[in-house]
This record gives sequence, structure tokens and C-alpha cells, in this order.
Amino acid sequence: MKNLKPVIISGKEVLPLVEGGKGINATDGYCSGIWARENCVGTFSGVCPDQYDNNKNIIFEKFFKKNRAERQEELVEQCIQGCVDQAKVAHEVSNGKGCIHMNMLWEAGGTEKILQEVLSRAKGLINGVTCGAGLPYKLGEMASKFETYYYPIISSARAFQILWKRSFSNFKDFLGGVVYEDPWLAGGHNGLSNAEDPNKPETPYSRLVELRARMNEMGLHNIPIILAGGIWNLSEWEDYIDNPDIGQIAFQFGTRPMLTKESPISDAWKNMLLNLKKGDVIRQHFSPTGFISSAIKNTFLEKLLNRKDGEVAFSDEQSTEFSHPLTFKNKTLYIKPQDAEKAQRQIDAGLTEVRATPDNTIVFMTHEDWAEQQKDRAECVGCLSQCQFSSWSQAKGTSGKSPDPRSYCIHKTLYKVGHGGDVNNNLVFAGEQVYRFAQDPLYKNGNIPSVKELIQNILQGK
Ligand SMILES: Cc1cc2nc3c(=O)[nH]c(=O)nc-3n(C[C@H](O)[C@H](O)[C@H](O)COP(=O)(O)O)c2cc1C
Ligand code: SF4
Repeated sequence: MKNLKPVIISGKEVLPLVEGGKGINATDGYCSGIWARENCVGTFSGVCPDQYDNNKNIIFEKFFKKNRAERQEELVEQCIQGCVDQAKVAHEVSNGKGCIHMNMLWEAGGTEKILQEVLSRAKGLINGVTCGAGLPYKLGEMASKFETYYYPIISSARAFQILWKRSFSNFKDFLGGVVYEDPWLAGGHNGLSNAEDPNKPETPYSRLVELRARMNEMGLHNIPIILAGGIWNLSEWEDYIDNPDIGQIAFQFGTRPMLTKESPISDAWKNMLLNLKKGDVIRQHFSPTGFISSAIKNTFLEKLLNRKDGEVAFSDEQSTEFSHPLTFKNKTLYIKPQDAEKAQRQIDAGLTEVRATPDNTIVFMTHEDWAEQQKDRAECVGCLSQCQFSSWSQAKGTSGKSPDPRSYCIHKTLYKVGHGGDVNNNLVFAGEQVYRFAQDPLYKNGNIPSVKELIQNILQGK
């Protein structure tokens, strides 16, 4: 295994190892501080992070207001304080070593305000801001204003070029690095464009070489690329180290750091990670953000997959194509005759709530599931700038589209699982390589290493 050379990240010389930020509460101030203490980069999640009271107890989220826009304001205020609290913990735990980064989702609700407030209130505590899920045009300007380094997360050279041309070229000094996140391998939301086939992965090598070539044309020879997605043993990535076609590189780990003593996820979640097989992670389209995402195929996702499988096209008017009447609860609509048996089978199985999607199709669900969806929509706190599940829109109040019953409230489920909730009945993001926990000798007999041990293994190429 080649020796890893230190790299300059956020103005500090550190090992080229980055803990990827994970919301909600799958990375926090404590674990990111530990990564930084090891002279690496630790990243706490800026998505709905926990606040602490004077005794360092968690203050759980609370909402009092009646309408969604007001609840979003409550969410944003709590989020700002949560980020400041996490930054303080991270800074204290790091002993001033390494780098502390904060991770934001550009398409989350209130991102600009959160960033602005956190960077002004937590001055000197946060070395860099990473930001993905969408094209964060304003990130460079906002971070530069507070002399904080910024790191866009992109999945193609093209996306970075767009950001550079539109905005980042005016804010060169604080561009700390570019995170290339492999859209076929990384856990969480993936940046696959319409032109890319989710089932035809491309190797990161040629995409990284292209990114570096474009960055060199922009004069960014010394700006590191941080490679994320599907990284386990660095011995498998030796070709990427000291490679002039790729240049300065650091490696970001998202899934591996979850199984460490210091990781904030629950014991049940850690235990689940130890026992997964290849194929237990799937990429799917159900996220209310509209992005593809990579998560564990548990009961929560299986229900959504079954609902999607049962989907049929419909029309309000009878026609030659939509000739078969489907009657339920005093209502009739028309489906294709070839879908009649599929529809009836679901109704007979108790999926008696027949609900339209925004794509002129219907899905079938139980009364309990429909009631839960209605409750979740009514309790929406505007966690996203735009939501396909509830049709919430930060700009206009509503997107004008009908709510999508094939989706789910991501805030509710991630908050739950990030605070000890059921790992089968909530969304559990994971990278494609998660099955390797069950095979890697480091985790034999249920061993859970400390962050220090994990980093030592990684440095040895293991
Ligand atoms: C549980 C989980 C939650 C994640 N949440 C976020 C997030 O909120 N924001 C983000 O930019 N990336 C998120 N990611 C992506 C990671 O930061 C990292 O880039 C990715 O997991 C790397 O791929 P790997 O899982 O193969 O190591 C998440 C990943 C996981 C596994
Ligand atoms: S319904 Fe849920 S996921 Fe959608 S914006 Fe509201 S809180 Fe977020």
C-alpha cells in the first residue's frame, strides 16, 4: 500500500481522509470531532442536527405553529442552533486538530438562511462547508463572505463546469476542493443525471480524469478532488494515488464510519449493518426530493416497491384504451382491461385506498397507510425547498402538483431512525458496499472498531 501524503484541506495540512456528512444525525459534532482529532476531516450534518441544553442533553425538535411556512421558520431556527451546538462540540473534541466541516443539502428548506446564520454565529469553529443535492450556485459567495472554505458535491465534470461558469469562478479563493461522489455507488441521495443509466455504472477513473482536466483548464491544479462513493480498502484505489492525471486526491468514506464506536447511530442500526448481504441496498426513485437514492431494502422500502409494482394507468373518462370501469367507494374511474386483474387483486387484499399520482396513475394502499400519509402531510415542517410527497414549496407554499402517494416524508423517517427509531420501518440510507461489513475481518464476531482503529486500517490499505 502506497503511503498517503498529507493534503491541504480548508487551509490545514491533514491526512487525505474525509468522513462524509450524513443526515439526520448519522454524523454529529462528536464523531466529526474525533475524525478531526485524528488529523483527518470530520463532517457533521447540518440537516436538522440536535441542539443541547446546558447539561448537554439533547433538545428534541418541537413545532407549535399552525401553518407549514411558520413551522418551517421554527425548523430553521432549531436547525441553526443545532448546527452551532454541533460545531462547538466538534471543535472541543478535535483539540484544534484536523478539519471540521459542516454538510448541507442545497435543496433543504431554508438552506441559505441556515448557512448565513451558522457561519456568522460559529465563527472559527467550522473550517469548511460541503454541499450537495442540487447545484449550490450561491455556496461560493456565502462561504467566502465568512472566509470559510466550500466544497460542492458533484457527480460529473459537467456539473462542476456549470457551477464554475455561473458563479464559483468569482469566488476562487475559498474553493477548498471538489467532492466527486460516484452516483452509482454512494450512499444517500445520488446525482445521476437523466443522461446516465442507473443500471449502467461508469468507472470513476475516467470521470475523475475528465474532472481534473476541466479543473486544470480553470487553473485549479492544486485544488484537491475528494473522491466519495464505494470506497472501502484503499489498496483497491492505489492507481488513484499519486496519479498525475487525477492530481491531488482525498478519499471520503460515508458508509464505513457508521460502524465505529463513536458513530451516533443506534446499536440496532449498527447491528443491521453487520449482517447485510450483497444486493440488500437498492437505488430507487421514491425520495420526495426527486433524486435517486441508495438505501437498504428493508420493510419500509419493500412497501414502497410493492406499491410501485401495483401502479396502473387510469383515466377519468372511458375510452377504447381505458375501457374497464374500476369502482370503489362510490367512485368510478377507467383502467386498461389488461390491468383489471392486477387492480382487483390489490383491492381484494385490503388495499382499498385507491389514490392518484401526479403521473395519471393510481396506486393501492391500506387505510392505515393512507391515514398516515395524510397525517404526515398535515404535519409537514417544510424540510425541503420543494417536496413531491406533500407538494410543499418554499417559494409559493405549494408546487401546484398533486401530492405523490408513492413517496414519503423524508424528514419524519430520517429523524426517527436517526434517534433510535425502528431500522426496518424507516428509511436507512447506505452505500452499495455495505455488505462488506459482514466479510471484512475487522468486524469479525461483531467487532466495532473505534474511529482511530478504522483510520489505522485504512492507512494500511485494509
Ligand atoms: C446514512 C447516510 C446518510 C447520508 N446523508 C448525506 C447527507 O445528508 N448529505 C450528503 O451530502 N451526503 C450524505 N450521504 C453521503 C455520504 O456523505 C458519502 O458521500 C457517501 O456515503 C459515500 O459513499 P459510501 O457510502 O459508499 O462510502 C449519506 C450517506 C449515508 C450512508
Ligand atoms: S412533507 Fe415531510 S419531506 Fe416533505 S417537505 Fe414536509 S417535512 Fe419535508
